Amino acid sequence: MRCARQWRFRGPGSPPRRSRDGEGQHEREQDGAAHSRHVVRTAKGAEPRRYRADVVTTTIRPAAAGDAAAIAGIYNEGIEDRVATFETRPRDAGEVAEWIAGGLPFLVAEDGGILGYARVSAYSDRCVYAGIGEHGVYVARSARGRRLGVALLDALAEACEAAGYYKLTSRVFADNGASRAVHRAAGFDEVGIQRRHGRLDGEWRDCVLVERLLGEAAA
Ligand SMILES: CC(C)(COP(=O)(O)OP(=O)(O)OC[C@H]1O[C@@H](n2cnc3c(N)ncnc32)[C@H](O)[C@@H]1OP(=O)(O)O)[C@@H](O)C(=O)NCCC(=O)NCCS
Repeated sequence: MRCARQWRFRGPGSPPRRSRDGEGQHEREQDGAAHSRHVVRTAKGAEPRRYRADVVTTTIRPAAAGDAAAIAGIYNEGIEDRVATFETRPRDAGEVAEWIAGGLPFLVAEDGGILGYARVSAYSDRCVYAGIGEHGVYVARSARGRRLGVALLDALAEACEAAGYYKLTSRVFADNGASRAVHRAAGFDEVGIQRRHGRLDGEWRDCVLVERLLGEAAA
């Protein structure tokens, strides 16, 4: 598809994005759970700030080719859980490397190893919808409940806004309480239910549509 306007993501290798006050690399700290902090860098550049030794520092940054195997492992946990996606076939690093190479917004949370990711895929091949991203967020089982899901979604929204998107949307299984909670916490609205939207392991599943408006659309 070729549309008049192209959406560009400042992924690995992009020059640092200037912050609004012009002081250089954009970097933001978020207080997370009592003993965690997330350093958010939606573009490559400055080193994370240092914290006390008892504080876990997590960096959110654009995904790189070398993250593919870890991301595949986290996605495959989500597939196994049977609450996140209609997909049932495990993915391998090669397939994930192609997603990363696709150049759409794709962030990972890292704390020594990769703990989770959030990414966008095309919502539609119609040009009118080119500013809408369909997103997914997955956190490793061992890292859930540390507010990484919220931090990843928030950072993804920021990266998408900077790339010119005006909306993020996804379908969440109605019984996926964790995903519905994380989306609410990250400023998404539930705007409808798609009943019996597909079968997983032979069982009909209802999906909740979630969306967050970005940029001018959010004004
Ligand atoms: C959904 C998922 C991404 C949440 O990530 P997470 O890092 O564990 O969630 P967070 O710690 O950021 O929690 C954010 C909020 O959701 C709530 N929450 C998290 N897990 C919850 C659960 N199982 N039940 C109810 N609420 C939950 C938290 O209490 C928190 O709420 P608060 O803001 O009121 O404190 C993670 O559970 C996961 O990867 N699940 C499997 C894949 C999946 O379902 N992805 C979504 C596909 S649509």
